[in-house]
Amino acid sequence: MKKKEFSISYESYADITELSEADSLLFTQARVATQMAYAPYSDFKVGAAALMENGELVSGSNQENASYPAGICAERVLLSTASSIYPGKAIKTMAISYIGKGKKSTRPVAPCGICRQSLMEFEQRFKQPIRLILGGMQGEIYIFNTIKSLLPLEFSGEDLK
Ligand code: THU
Repeated sequence: MKKKEFSISYESYADITELSEADSLLFTQARVATQMAYAPYSDFKVGAAALMENGELVSGSNQENASYPAGICAERVLLSTASSIYPGKAIKTMAISYIGKGKKSTRPVAPCGICRQSLMEFEQRFKQPIRLILGGMQGEIYIFNTIKSLLPLEFSGEDLK
C-alpha cells in the first residue's frame, strides 16, 4: 500500500483593493453580473465574468426555472455563451461572485460540482489553465491558478478512449 495525496494552493487577498487592476475590473464585472440573475426560487444570485484570450469579456448569471433541475448555474451559462460567441477561444481568467437575499456576501463561495466538471473540460479543451477569482460582495478573495485544483482525479474525455 502506498499513501498518496493531493495538495492545493491558492492565493488569499483581504479584499478587492489588493487585486491587480485587470483582476479588479473582471471581478467587478462578476459582481455586476449577479444583478442579471433570474433566481426567484433560491434568492441566491450568482454572477460570473470571463476574460477571453482575444481580450473580450463575457458574463453569465444563474437562470432558474419552476422545474428546479432545469435551472442553470452562472458558470455554465457563461461557458455556453463564451463557446457560442467566440468558438475556439480559450478563457484566461474567470471571476465569480454572489449575493444571497438577507445573507451576508463576505466570503468566497466555490463552483458546484457540475460546474467544476464543465470548467475542467473547457480548460482541457484549450490546453491552458483558467485562473479563477472567487469572492463575495465584500471581503476576502481567493485566486486559483487552475480549475484542476478544484477537481482532482477528474473524469475526462481521455477516460472514454
Ligand atoms: N449556483 C450557481 O449559479 N453556481 C454555483 O456554482 C452554485 C449554485 C446557483 C444555482 C441556483 O440557481 C442557486 O445558485 C442556488 O443553488
